[in-house]
Amino acid sequence: MATEFQGPQRELLDAPDRDHCPGARPVLAYREEDDPEYLAGLDARALQKVRLQRRGIWHGEWIELRADQAPGLSRPREALFDERWHRARPILLPGLLDHDAAWPAQAQERLALFEALQQPEGLAEFIANRPTDDPPHWRATGPLPLYDPSRDIACLGLESQPGQDVWVKSGHLSTFDEDRSLRVRFSAGSEGKNDASRDLDAHRRVQSLAQQLLPETRTIESTPALLEPLEDWIDGPVFFTQHIGYWNAPGGGALMHHDGFREPIEGGQRGVVYVQLAGRTAWVALSIEDLSRRVIEFVEYMQEGELAWVREDLFPDRETFQWLERMVARFGRVRKELGKPGCGRLGPLVGRGPEFTSLLADAGHAFILEPGDSIVLPNQGLECTCMHSVFCASPEPTYGVSMAVREAQPTTPAPEDRPPKPSRGRSRRRRRRR
Ligand SMILES: [Fe+2]
Repeated sequence: MATEFQGPQRELLDAPDRDHCPGARPVLAYREEDDPEYLAGLDARALQKVRLQRRGIWHGEWIELRADQAPGLSRPREALFDERWHRARPILLPGLLDHDAAWPAQAQERLALFEALQQPEGLAEFIANRPTDDPPHWRATGPLPLYDPSRDIACLGLESQPGQDVWVKSGHLSTFDEDRSLRVRFSAGSEGKNDASRDLDAHRRVQSLAQQLLPETRTIESTPALLEPLEDWIDGPVFFTQHIGYWNAPGGGALMHHDGFREPIEGGQRGVVYVQLAGRTAWVALSIEDLSRRVIEFVEYMQEGELAWVREDLFPDRETFQWLERMVARFGRVRKELGKPGCGRLGPLVGRGPEFTSLLADAGHAFILEPGDSIVLPNQGLECTCMHSVFCASPEPTYGVSMAVREAQPTTPAPEDRPPKPSRGRSRRRRRRR
């Protein structure tokens, strides 16, 4: 077995401003044309390599290293997790689920739905074919109008008692023709308008239906290794709602976004948990503060004359680049822009591959999720939320589920704490800018 890195790989992994989540397997970006000795060093300590292509854009290649190549912990793991939660940095829980359980077989059943759910009738057939022995008994109330006809495939209403309705919808993740990635979403009330609803009874109904139709979510929700730390961080009992089943397919995935709302923290959506159940997905996940810093770092490279081809592609005219330069001089403006749908006017830069994606990976914001692994995406409000984007990292469609975390007994909203100030400075990733 190869020993620890000594050279440039070590410098990248140990860079003081590289993010490191305890327990996470480190990921670095690489290029085939990198120095052969450098690549051989990576290979000797690698678990796997993934190629990243999403919606027709090439995002480069990553190498996942053994967990023992990660830097040592500076403080106890629990203290680091607690801080990550409050700073809205992603928390990796590799191997959350016990493989000696029902979920691997359930995940295979869900994978088999991938083709059927592409069709409008697939959703109703899936629901009709689920066993309904356990109460409550749901009655279909009929199809509902599509909220986003460009992506949605079908939407069905269900109720367990008159007037207590919920809905389930199937849809594509994007309008990109070759992206067949799907999701099945559970919710209640008017889509969009009620997404941040604080109606706990409605959320409980959503939870109940999701657990019945996707019983793997019941397993996840009762896993102590997930539930106990969440209750610690939130300081009270929690429950899960707004479930989504995801079939990320080759060439597809999700663009950078957050799952927060403009609302007081207490009693609101406190975060999202995603669990991979079949196949493999690759993630970029980082706090909105950290993403702001990385955007500024990237723009500084362009200001210094680096990445000329990126600047030419993204900001061909002088006025737009000057606008960008003015923006990155104000940290708060960058963060505010990134919180807008699609990251606002910074969307093309944030979605730029492979250069920006590689910078994020080398800065410690990349993760590869295997079946049974989980990632927690904390949310402390729009100014302190976890941004994330997803790639399919398998040759076949994959399957995973996400669910929002809410307080079971919320207290009255209190004034928000200011999020911590970001640290400054750049590391030797500079050596590897691309
Ligand atoms: Fe999300």
